[in-house]
Amino acid sequence: MILITGGAGFIGGNFVLDWLADPTAESVVNLDKLTYAGNLATLEALEGDPRHTFVRGDIGDQQLVTDSLKTHQPRAIVHFAAESHVDRSIHGPAEFVHTNIVGTFNLLECARTYWNALDESKKAGFRFHHVSTDEVYGSLSASDPAFTETHPYEPNSPYSASKAASDHLVRAWFHTYGLPVITSNCSNNYGPYHFPEKLIPLVILNALGNKPLPIYGDGQQVRDWLYVGDHCAAIREVLAKGKLGETYNIGGWNEKTNIDVVKTICTILDELRPRADGKSYAEQITFVKDRPGHDRRYAIDASKLKRELGWRPAETFDTGIRKTVRWYLDNPAWVEGIVSGSYRDWLQKQYS
Ligand code: NAD
Ligand code: TYD
Repeated sequence: MILITGGAGFIGGNFVLDWLADPTAESVVNLDKLTYAGNLATLEALEGDPRHTFVRGDIGDQQLVTDSLKTHQPRAIVHFAAESHVDRSIHGPAEFVHTNIVGTFNLLECARTYWNALDESKKAGFRFHHVSTDEVYGSLSASDPAFTETHPYEPNSPYSASKAASDHLVRAWFHTYGLPVITSNCSNNYGPYHFPEKLIPLVILNALGNKPLPIYGDGQQVRDWLYVGDHCAAIREVLAKGKLGETYNIGGWNEKTNIDVVKTICTILDELRPRADGKSYAEQITFVKDRPGHDRRYAIDASKLKRELGWRPAETFDTGIRKTVRWYLDNPAWVEGIVSGSYRDWLQKQYS
């Protein structure tokens, strides 16, 4: 079996669902603290499935992590758990240090103790896959080449700095202790079950709720969007065939300005769920104060992954964004479960 951390979040949840969609797949132990971003409704389809064991807890809890490893004897750990939202990291960085740095440190130490006690064949097969972000590389200008795996680390936000720190710890645990680790650094994801504090789901839900569509600054910042199912497929590939101690960039060759992303969503909604007054959802676009320290451009060069492991994304931005908008239209119960909770307080804090 494999142990997933953060499997009730956006990407971890999609990963668990995709993994267990294969009837021959190994079982999953899913360790998640269920912060505001964790949502068991995402995993509803797995209710009663004996291949999925959910453990509520903190990756920083040494006893709990040690016990979970001892009890379930996973042959791999895939580490998604993190505080993941840049704007929240600006309001309150402490949780980012606690989970992303100290939590990852604890997980590495527990994994090391567990791995050291395995017999030789199990030891050789064990993997610690650390899921990270392209934001650790900092910001690009319009003419810079995309980030490769050797790009210097230049994180600019408390979020990216905490992820960069965790990447360094993972690297050191390989070089110093020989722990069999692999790190992947992925660009911005989008798709089903995405918590609506992030740009794409926020815009879809605000549009449908007749609210402003907030664009930070001039809206010309560039992100490189990857459909979440493609990210999950890439992680499966790296877990199966990646070289120990290596890092792999994952991206979809889909650079878009924020304003273009928002306009595309408006056009799709105009077609699928036209506004009652016949006007375009683009009328709701509102330019608001910029994010402090806002990175201008991210772009991933994923050619190493393509060349060495044969991975390439299945979705283009056009196909993926359409699927995503449809998913939010078709899943009002999941959305309602989120927007009725503490999410409202966040919107008030960030946008009022
Ligand atoms: P998310 O915020 O949607 O989910 C994070 C999950 O981790 C939640 O279920 C939460 O309950 C859990 N969690 C938080 N703190 C925890 C703790 N201390 N112990 C146990 N569980 C805890 O995040 P996401 O968007 O799914 O991102 C998952 C991973 O992928 C993160 O490591 C993130 O840095 C990385 N990543 C995200 C993106 C993106 O676009 N979302 C892109 C590249 C990399
Ligand atoms: P986000 O989804 O928060 O991801 P990240 O900051 O990790 O890239 O934001 C994506 C881009 O959209 C980023 O440049 C910030 C911008 N943005 C807005 O313009 N308005 C918003 O309300 C949000 C949440 C983000």
